Order: sequence, then structure tokens, then C-alpha cells
Amino acid sequence: MRESPPKLDSSSTPDVQHQKLACDSNLSTHHPNANFSLTREVKPYQRQKVLTWLDQNVPDKRLHHILRVEEMAAQLAHHYHLDAEKAAQAGLMHDLAKCFKAKKLLQLAAAAGLEIDPVFAANPHLLHADVGAIVAQQEFGIQDDTVLDAIRHHTLGAAGMSPLSCVVFLADSLEPGRGDTPELETLRSACWEDLHQAVWLTSEYTLKHLFESQHLIHPRALMTRNWAMQQNLQRGRQHGS
Ligand SMILES: [Fe+2]
Ligand SMILES: [Fe+2]
Repeated sequence: MRESPPKLDSSSTPDVQHQKLACDSNLSTHHPNANFSLTREVKPYQRQKVLTWLDQNVPDKRLHHILRVEEMAAQLAHHYHLDAEKAAQAGLMHDLAKCFKAKKLLQLAAAAGLEIDPVFAANPHLLHADVGAIVAQQEFGIQDDTVLDAIRHHTLGAAGMSPLSCVVFLADSLEPGRGDTPELETLRSACWEDLHQAVWLTSEYTLKHLFESQHLIHPRALMTRNWAMQQNLQRGRQHGS
């Protein structure tokens, strides 16, 4: 649902065996610590295995997006004193099921006991986040619930989602390849200020796009927006009292 405007034309083929972790210097995440290095935060063996799998299962353009999400999620996690390694893992694996066909998504979701509600049934692509967590578990042995939840929640979010999930949700929407409109630049700046406010505003940005383009909206996306808005307003009241 939130995947709608992919923006970067990645014409070069990434050599994933030697993929550099540093973000493209032309693409700014507005990260306040430009010298932060992701290489300290990931386990190379795990990452290489995932990269090899991705190289065989997603096109280059998608892989570039995934690498930018990995980078931005780790940077945000570092900024908010969260576990940057877990953020990077979730970022790297968030779109494992992105290119699965509808039939496969429905089969895997049903086999895992996920509820296929009417919006999922009409748009099985929305299941790629939940199914991605299943693949992360089954293919790469990921057991950490915070990492699996961050993969699960990267598209629709969830009311009450963890800060790590917020970070991956924001990185997926706002990684530099998504575009450079003033609205996106404002959201990117916001995500270094307050996680919940950024999730609230980013949800509204996505919902507005979905309304305007007459797409179905999953109720979970609305619940995410309401929850994040309330979290932000409550904190504002606490600070104001
Ligand atoms: Fe996705
Ligand atoms: Fe994505």
C-alpha cells in the first residue's frame, strides 16, 4: 500500500557480493551524524546470506531500495538509541516477499494462519510484509520478535508498534530514493525529531495519496495513524502541563 511511489532509477547492477554499505552520496537522509557507519552494526555472515538470496529473488531496483532502507533504519535506530543491528536486519529483510505473486502470498499467509480480511483478499500484495516476516523466520532463522514485527509492520504499521518498528516503517517510506519533493523533505526532517510525530505525519501523507488515487485502504493503516497521532498529542500535553 505504501510502496506506491518508488522513485529511484537504479540502472547500474549492484554487485551484492561486494555491496558497499555507505549510502549514495547524492541521496540525503538528513541524518545529523553523517559519519555514522553501518558496518559496525551488522553481522557480515547473516547479511551476506540475505544479500545472496535477494540477488536471486528481487530485481536490482528493489535491491537498491532495500539497501537504502537498511541504511536509514540503522541510522534512525542509532539516533534514538535503539538496537541499530536489529534495525539493519529488519531493513535488509523487510521486502523479502515483495516480488512474490499473489497466489504465493495468499498460500503462505493461509498456511501461517494469518487472517485474510477483505482488503487483503482484494489486494494480496499488502500481505508481503507479513509474509516477509515468515520468510525471515523460515529462510534465515530470525527468531527475534522485535525484528520480525518490524518486518511485519513496515507497510501498514500497527497501533502500539515498537520504536524499532517505527524506525523501519519510516525508513521504508522516506528513504532517499522515494523522491525529493518538499513534502518528503519535511517528513525526513521530522523523523529525526520525534518518532511518533513522524509516523503520524507519514501515515497521513500515504493515506492522502491512497485517497487521491482511489486505492483501498487497510484499516490497520488508519489505526496506525490514529495511534501515532494520539501518542504525539499526549506527549505534547504532558510537556505542556
Ligand atoms: Fe514493502
Ligand atoms: Fe520497501
